[in-house]
Amino acid sequence: MDNNKRPETMERITTPELAKRFIDEQVGEVRAQVGDKKVLLALSGGVDSSVVAALLIKAIGKQLVCVHVNHGLMRKGESEQVIEVFGKELDANLIYVDATDRFLDLLAGVAEPERKRKIIGGEFIKVFDEEASKLKGISFLAQGTIYPDILESDGVKAHHNVGGLPEDMEMELVEPVKLLYKDEVRVVGEALGLPHAMVYRQPFPGPGLGVRCLGAITRDRLHALREADAILREEFDKNGLAGKVWQYFIAVPDVKSVGVRDGKRYEGWPAIIRAVNTTDAMSATIEEIPYELLHRITDRITHEVDGINRVLYDLTPKPIGTIEWE
Ligand code: XMP
Repeated sequence: MDNNKRPETMERITTPELAKRFIDEQVGEVRAQVGDKKVLLALSGGVDSSVVAALLIKAIGKQLVCVHVNHGLMRKGESEQVIEVFGKELDANLIYVDATDRFLDLLAGVAEPERKRKIIGGEFIKVFDEEASKLKGISFLAQGTIYPDILESDGVKAHHNVGGLPEDMEMELVEPVKLLYKDEVRVVGEALGLPHAMVYRQPFPGPGLGVRCLGAITRDRLHALREADAILREEFDKNGLAGKVWQYFIAVPDVKSVGVRDGKRYEGWPAIIRAVNTTDAMSATIEEIPYELLHRITDRITHEVDGINRVLYDLTPKPIGTIEWE
């Protein structure tokens, strides 16, 4: 039997009861596969790796070693949430690596988007590899592969993604959610007790804010982007758009315009709002954000975020504009 093929008879997991049944089955299978050996997992904080982590913690507890690499391009509060949920609440064996300086130093002066992606992906593998080689007696590598990853590629988590791991890591794989669709992974995540916001988070590219801090990344503009993005997310949350809009974020280009603040000339970057709806990310339409809310977001970002003096709203559907700016 091809165990990378979802059996026709497999029921779609839509309820907590079905999720519990799946979890019980997987706990048994993982225990049988792993025995008393140790398993390593790159925990990004995204939906898939978080659900795998929670499932494996339930199955094998401290035999799971999670490594969370903060590449310095996370959204505000994301690494903190990983530490809070997995390190504290679930009492996981969690190694936290703050590699911000390594990534930002390598990215300094690099403006070309695909080179930025390559640097981020390559450095991620290096950092993860270094952490893995410090550990003794790891026999398995867990991955948050889901069924669309198998259908769309060769079964390895999208290679352009930061989650891609070294091919020469000779460890047997543990992939407990590889036959599940995204909606099922979420139902399982909730049944495992993960926070709703973590399980229903919007898609976030592997290179993170790196592809939204347009052109050559600088620490000050990255900081402004992160703060503006946090305000957008907070306002979408408060106004019922967070669960409705597929993907929303801020991009900050490497351009300054003149403004005025406290009676003085004030040069700053524009924050560009992008809020799109799609089913498959191949095409996308624009969310009609109420004007009143747009005004409030503009007011907050221009007053609360150092370095931003204008807010723009990107009305371009895909095609012709891609969802990300680079
Ligand atoms: P585009 O910009 O191509 O984006 O319309 C489509 C979807 O893919 C995400 N995206 C990425 N995800 N690594 C990822 O893991 C990347 O390099 C990357 N680039 C774009 C994007 O956020 C959107 O959901």
